Amino acid sequence: MIGLGTMGAGIAEVFARAGIGVVAIEVDAAALSRGVGILDASLSRAVTRGRLTAAEQAEIRSRVRPAAGFSDAAAVDLAIEVVPERMEIKREILAELDRVCSPDAILATNTSSLSVTAIAAASKHPGRVIGMHFFNPAPVMRLVEVVSTVLTTDGVAATVSDLARRVGKTPVQVGDRAGFIANALLLPYLNHALHLLATGYASRADIDTAATAGIRLPMGPLALLDLIGLDTALSIMEVLHGEFGLPRYMPTPLLRRLADAGRTGRKAGRGIYEYPNSGSDDHQSGNEHPPATPRTVTLIGAGDDTEAELASAIAAAGINVTRNAAHPSDLVLIAAEAGRPILPAALAAGRPQQAVGLHLAGKLAAGSLAEVVQTSVSSADAVQAGAALAVKLGLTAVRAPDRPGFLAGTLLYPHLADAVRMCQDGYAGPADIDTAMKLGCGYPRGPFELIDAAGAAAVLTGLEAMHDAYGYPEFAPPPLLAEHAAAGIAFADGSRSAL
Ligand code: 3HC
Repeated sequence: MIGLGTMGAGIAEVFARAGIGVVAIEVDAAALSRGVGILDASLSRAVTRGRLTAAEQAEIRSRVRPAAGFSDAAAVDLAIEVVPERMEIKREILAELDRVCSPDAILATNTSSLSVTAIAAASKHPGRVIGMHFFNPAPVMRLVEVVSTVLTTDGVAATVSDLARRVGKTPVQVGDRAGFIANALLLPYLNHALHLLATGYASRADIDTAATAGIRLPMGPLALLDLIGLDTALSIMEVLHGEFGLPRYMPTPLLRRLADAGRTGRKAGRGIYEYPNSGSDDHQSGNEHPPATPRTVTLIGAGDDTEAELASAIAAAGINVTRNAAHPSDLVLIAAEAGRPILPAALAAGRPQQAVGLHLAGKLAAGSLAEVVQTSVSSADAVQAGAALAVKLGLTAVRAPDRPGFLAGTLLYPHLADAVRMCQDGYAGPADIDTAMKLGCGYPRGPFELIDAAGAAAVLTGLEAMHDAYGYPEFAPPPLLAEHAAAGIAFADGSRSAL
């Protein structure tokens, strides 16, 4: 293992836990001891959580041998470099490894943003150089992207994939393209979330809550940016933008500013959130809405089941419900529908200042996401009352503007479109893309499973509404999505989309 930072130490732990000896190489003794400290802290944490015994910890630890220098790599079968993302450093390391390693050894790079091909070309034997891309935290996330280049010798990807399986990971084999699968999909979505924050579309806590409570992702995009590091995220976005050139990949200015300011995330104790005890994850979040529940609510809906369900839930919470906008009430609540603005109904009710929408991302169930939709005329009191009402109903409330997709859809639809475009480009098929996002980023369902569950037509409608409203090319629905919507076929069944 060349480089024992957070990722290198995590990957070393993965191999050592699987019974494989690791030679750990760092630039100097201080860096080496810091790296070993990261490994020790992770193993101790597993012992504290009852996942390892002290004896197992000692055994795993004994398999990691801090090395005096590159010459200790002479006998290894595989060398993985996990050093900073600078081509000149990677090239130097490849030259050293060429010098000391046996000709049969495989040389892997964990690069997340540089071209594996360009790194391989620095080796005298580029056929044995391959990408082996792990995910943070490496001991937990199960994906390894195995990245072959046009120079990679036949069989190397299969050998590395077998090894990944041996250490408990799931390999997905891909070609060398910026961001591979997971980063090419994840980073534009995170960047977009930061753009929504920067433009005042929604608050920090609400953006993260929309993703966790609405899309059921393990972390919100802003908390995840802090975990990945804003500097790392910026460099990946720059590489994606350089390779694909599309506006979707342009780093949002706030990303660059935060990285420039050294507010790089958890590792710096400060990023989008503050981390008073560096290394802890106690970022500020949660429901910030004050509890000022309205006593009487005018409910306006489409006369469907959602409206009826809402009416009985509100009544069951001890709040009077009226359907007549002429009756006095504390709040006009419009049962919001995806893809349809609430402003016309708010104006029709005659008191648009007192009107907000309530959009349920899923079922009306405890903890599920409720988007409190505010128009340009909704008063602050009405928005607070709407949020308090949602909390009273046991829902998780976020505030969202009266724009297509509200908040969760605004985050999700372009992300799903990116996945469809990747498939349309022939880079990876739905199954591999779903596996990558589930095992690399902890998604409970992959992008194509999400599309199939919602229906391609619903995702298409959401994207079309965003595209019509903003005119941005990044919201243009990919033809493959439109074809699935028109034919009514799921990606799980679609033969044309199965690469
Ligand atoms: N190191 C080692 N183990 C860790 C860890 C770390 N840094 N963080 C968490 N864990 C372990 C815990 O010990 C725990 O193990 P246990 O169940 O055996 O006791 C388990 O993970 C779950 O941890 P927690 O209960 O503390 O917390 P959560 O359930 O909230 O899970 C999470 C934490 C696994 C980080 C989860 O939030 C998640 O999956 N987040 C998404 C992370 C993600 O998307 N990663 C990919 C980023 S992109 C990338 O890395 C590519 C790069 O190129 C940029």
